[in-house]
Amino acid sequence: MTVRFVPPPYPYDRLDEARRAASRLPGGVIDLSVGTPTDPPPAGVLAALADADRGGAARGYPPSVGTLELRSAIQHWVKDRLGAAVPLDDIGACVGTKELVAGVPQWLKLRSPGRDTVLHPALAYPTYAMGATLAGLRAVAVPSDERGRVDLSAVDPADAERALLLWVNTPGNPAGGLDDLAAAAEWGTRHGVPVFSDECYAEFTWDGPARTILGQGTGAGGLGGVVAVHSLSKTANVAGMRVGWYCGDPDLVGYLREVRKHAGLMVAGPVQRAAVAALGDTAHVDVQRRRYRERLERAAAILSAAGVVAPLPDGGFYLWVTVPGGDEWAWTAEMAERAGVLVSPGSFYGPSGSGRARLAMVAPLERLEVMARRLGVGE
Ligand SMILES: Cc1ncc(COP(=O)(O)O)c(C=O)c1O
Repeated sequence: MTVRFVPPPYPYDRLDEARRAASRLPGGVIDLSVGTPTDPPPAGVLAALADADRGGAARGYPPSVGTLELRSAIQHWVKDRLGAAVPLDDIGACVGTKELVAGVPQWLKLRSPGRDTVLHPALAYPTYAMGATLAGLRAVAVPSDERGRVDLSAVDPADAERALLLWVNTPGNPAGGLDDLAAAAEWGTRHGVPVFSDECYAEFTWDGPARTILGQGTGAGGLGGVVAVHSLSKTANVAGMRVGWYCGDPDLVGYLREVRKHAGLMVAGPVQRAAVAALGDTAHVDVQRRRYRERLERAAAILSAAGVVAPLPDGGFYLWVTVPGGDEWAWTAEMAERAGVLVSPGSFYGPSGSGRARLAMVAPLERLEVMARRLGVGE
């Protein structure tokens, strides 16, 4: 019997009813569901976009791997912000990281057909599992704790043997935990499994410096067996530009760069130029860090006053809360109706997320004060 693939409902589409309820409140919805930045990007990014065709950037096909200028800017950023050294040939651009996360399994499977499993944290960004599904592979959840940190000692040896790759995500979405990336790299080496480390929230690490898997792998420069994945979406508030990158293991990155050329995956030329401007502006990141920190602290205080357990994360810009009553869908509806606040039910991030909800700190403080008043806990 042929099994036809039917895509499941897209998670955020399932919030339509809650959104309608929230919109009915005077003053409208306070959308804390999707982690989409709403603050402005660095001025230099907008200037580079406005000047889109300089050097012919808008005319010819852009290089799929990224222009030399972009890869040099990435190389410099990685050294400056993460303290890791990566050769220019071991860096590739992607059209935002979601397409890379969703696509890597189908490309890796072509050269390792004997491996049919994608390992991912049990509590995680859903695209890790979806990438396996879209490639016709098994997605196997690695047990993770309440902050989403993986317990690699719990991986079944039979699953490790079948694994095409392991995803880790630090700081983690949704629960804001920080993994031991050296231990993850070591596990990958021991089992012969490439480790892909999604580090798109690295600049928003609250407990110590930003962590990376780069330098923790084998061989020269510690790049063997590891690939780091980074995005400008959150770092520079340019999710709409669609630009990120992957870098690390020369063999894996080299293979992905070639496959992606054939697939026609290219970051638009003007966007590549704007990305260079974004990578050069670290002062902007400091401002954004302060914004997220302030919002996290204020929202946690508001929710605690309203009787919700809302611990601060070790990284990222999400509050991962325990919902009163234990039913995340009921609480999602209640927050929409009572406070006009749209949250993400925890089960979007795996079965272990039930009884929890995620709130993205993408709304300004004024809107959080509106939430406080509606919850009856404003000053
Ligand atoms: C953990 C994680 N990885 C990757 C992404 C994708 O980001 P983008 O496609 O904008 O680079 C997101 C977006 O929310 C995310 O939370």
